[in-house]
Amino acid sequence: MTESELPAADVSRETGGGPSEAVSRETTFDTPIMREAAQAVHVMNVRQEQWPRPATTRILTVANQKGGVGKTTTTVNIAAALALHGLRVLVIDLDPQGNASTALGIDHTTGTPSIYDVLLGGDSLADVAATTEMTPTLTCVPATLDLAGADIELTSQVAREYRLQRAVTAHLEALAADPDAAPLDYVLIDCPPSLGLLTLNALVAGREVLIPIQCEYYALEGLAQLLNTVELVKSHLNPTLAVSTVLLTMYDSRTRLADQVADEVRNHFGELVLSSVIPRNVRVSEAPGFGQTVMTYDAGSRGAIGYLEAARELAERGKAEPGENAQ
Ligand SMILES: Nc1ncnc2c1ncn2[C@@H]1O[C@H](COP(=O)(O)OP(=O)(O)OP(=O)(O)O)[C@@H](O)[C@H]1O
Ligand SMILES: [Mg+2]
Repeated sequence: MTESELPAADVSRETGGGPSEAVSRETTFDTPIMREAAQAVHVMNVRQEQWPRPATTRILTVANQKGGVGKTTTTVNIAAALALHGLRVLVIDLDPQGNASTALGIDHTTGTPSIYDVLLGGDSLADVAATTEMTPTLTCVPATLDLAGADIELTSQVAREYRLQRAVTAHLEALAADPDAAPLDYVLIDCPPSLGLLTLNALVAGREVLIPIQCEYYALEGLAQLLNTVELVKSHLNPTLAVSTVLLTMYDSRTRLADQVADEVRNHFGELVLSSVIPRNVRVSEAPGFGQTVMTYDAGSRGAIGYLEAARELAERGKAEPGENAQ
């Protein structure tokens, strides 16, 4: 795929999916301005949709102990896309780097009330959550550098693996008991690049694991260790946990390697892999520098459309079935 193309999902929906039609559509938008206008209109139309609510709050732990594979980018952009479509979303930043907080424009200077105070100080999530400027339906519990020592500090604590789970459960119960509060549809937890106590807390608190996989060499390396950890958590600490979603990130269609990795991941994880793939796109990496997600920074970019499609797919897969009450 070149910089100029629309994502495959987009093209196929509008054209009925035939390769020849897809080609003809591309030739219709043969100037950059026309293409951008078409993308912007597409994004605006999609935004007016209300995406389906899940039957109960979905708690997704975004994990991969490999660094720089797109965990944070995936967390904040999926969260933003869901929130822009009427869903109520809480992001929990569990990485001392605080990258998710930055991308959502949430203050996380040292001393700011944060997830550290929840895990080690007994604060509630409501005490430390902040609302994003983007939309009131998206809130974030920030992480500060204080969290850097938490792995060690937690070691000596009672129920050290359950700290986050207890906080999340208490938060959801408090919302359910408050007639003026709306329930959350999604909680997304951004993990640090390690399998230490912080990630363990996130796996114990989550119901689903979302694994972003970068379309690069060694993409699958180390995944066995993550899957093994998920199984251990499942059998000892959190029986309801399951890997529900795999997302291919930073896909570069100019390299044959990206396709090879994508095929390998699909062979391995099958249906768990979202059909939407996130392209490598510079707008995605620029957005955090402006305290924004790419969904608002450049809604018509290929990166934003990739995340939009992925989030929509996630919401569709997890929607309340007929007979189940949506929240
Ligand atoms: N689709 C994309 N296109 C271009 N750049 C991207 C894309 N996704 C992520 N990046 C960039 O790649 C880098 C790593 O992404 P990100 O921080 O989301 O990974 P991570 O897994 O959270 O990293 P860490 O393990 O350090 O927490 C960032 O600089 C980010 O802006
Ligand atoms: Mg990160």
